Amino acid sequence: MKGIILAGGAGTRLYPASLPISKILLPIYNKPMIYYPLSVLMMAGIKDILIITNPEDDANFQKLLGDGSQWGMHFSYKIQHVKRGIADAFLLGEEFIGADTSALILGDNIFYGSGFEHLLRDACSQVEGATVFAYETSEPERFGVVEFNAQGQAVSLEEKPQHPKSNFAVTGLYFYDNQVVKYAKQLKPSARGELEITDLNKLYLEDKKLHVARLERGFAWLDTGTHETLLQAADFVHSMQLNQGIEIACPEEIALQQGFISKQDLQKYLEDKPKNSYYQYVSLLLNK
Ligand code: DAU
Repeated sequence: MKGIILAGGAGTRLYPASLPISKILLPIYNKPMIYYPLSVLMMAGIKDILIITNPEDDANFQKLLGDGSQWGMHFSYKIQHVKRGIADAFLLGEEFIGADTSALILGDNIFYGSGFEHLLRDACSQVEGATVFAYETSEPERFGVVEFNAQGQAVSLEEKPQHPKSNFAVTGLYFYDNQVVKYAKQLKPSARGELEITDLNKLYLEDKKLHVARLERGFAWLDTGTHETLLQAADFVHSMQLNQGIEIACPEEIALQQGFISKQDLQKYLEDKPKNSYYQYVSLLLNK
């Protein structure tokens, strides 16, 4: 399975903070925002990842993440010159995906909760159809919304509806079979001129090939699109890390857990890293 992180867009809602640098590189407490979606793909066992950026920030992403070999992975980069919509990721990623299945995650989505790795493994093992994740929210009108029937099956999808049919938002993490590029090519731009991910998911729904997994209460899903939610996300990460003494979204730790790298690899990697609190945490992994 291949992974795509969509990290383009101008981030105008966060101006002026995101004017000199992509919003997806801004810190969520002690690490760049992109570490969080990257960690999700890593937890799903995905090693081959395409990072889609805007032209101005491509070099910054490459400076931060390199070719991925430091974590036993492989990163490629593609520039999205025009903000043509989330589903554009599959037109830009056609060659990268090739004959594989794929997972797409939005660069500004943060997921945290127990049992998540299990859900990810289930989604990865599906060779036919698509899997998306629904999360109950008090502001469904800000998101793609999924409606369920009495049997709990998804019956409709709407992008940012004025009158939502449910309180379930579709989160920014999507798993698809190899038909996704074919479906993406059928899409027409919406009224706001974008190839909508919700329209893509509707095609799977119409074909009865959309699986909607619910993220239960107690699970945290944060979209960091506004100043308020950016601060909330930083607060959340800070307090969880402080209480539990763990790092959320630490790629070094996940790479070790997943067997992408060995302890010897990690030791070598740490040689030129500063001895700050983050890398001290990482170096303690060598003794675990
Ligand atoms: O966060 C989940 C929501 O994400 C879903 O519920 C919605 O169905 C989906 O449309 C999307 O809504 P947003 O309003 O949050 O999408 P936004 O335009 O903010 O884009 C999300 C991220 O993707 C953002 O960090 C910028 C990036 N992006 C977006 C577009 C449209 C790109 O890199 N290129 C694009 O063309």
